[in-house]
Amino acid sequence: MPNKKDIKISICMGSSCYPRGNRETLERIKSYVIDNNLTERVSLEGNLCEGMCKDGPNVKINDEIYHEIDYYNLINLINKLLDED
Ligand code: FES
Repeated sequence: MPNKKDIKISICMGSSCYPRGNRETLERIKSYVIDNNLTERVSLEGNLCEGMCKDGPNVKINDEIYHEIDYYNLINLINKLLDED
């Protein structure tokens, strides 16, 4: 049974979001998850363009879409969600 604190991160790999930051965010967040022993709680995957390119780079966390994401604000979001009960 999944832990309710588990986080599923889906990074847009579409032709707008990916080169505008999500390529770097994906690489760095992979290392962050491993380095902080979060592989049991945080899953990472890529998704295709969802038509919100102008608001990107976009990242979905647990089915909620966040816009203008970079590595630093993604780390903040992850830590906030992991701290929630
Ligand atoms: S490329 Fe990410 S929403 Fe279009």
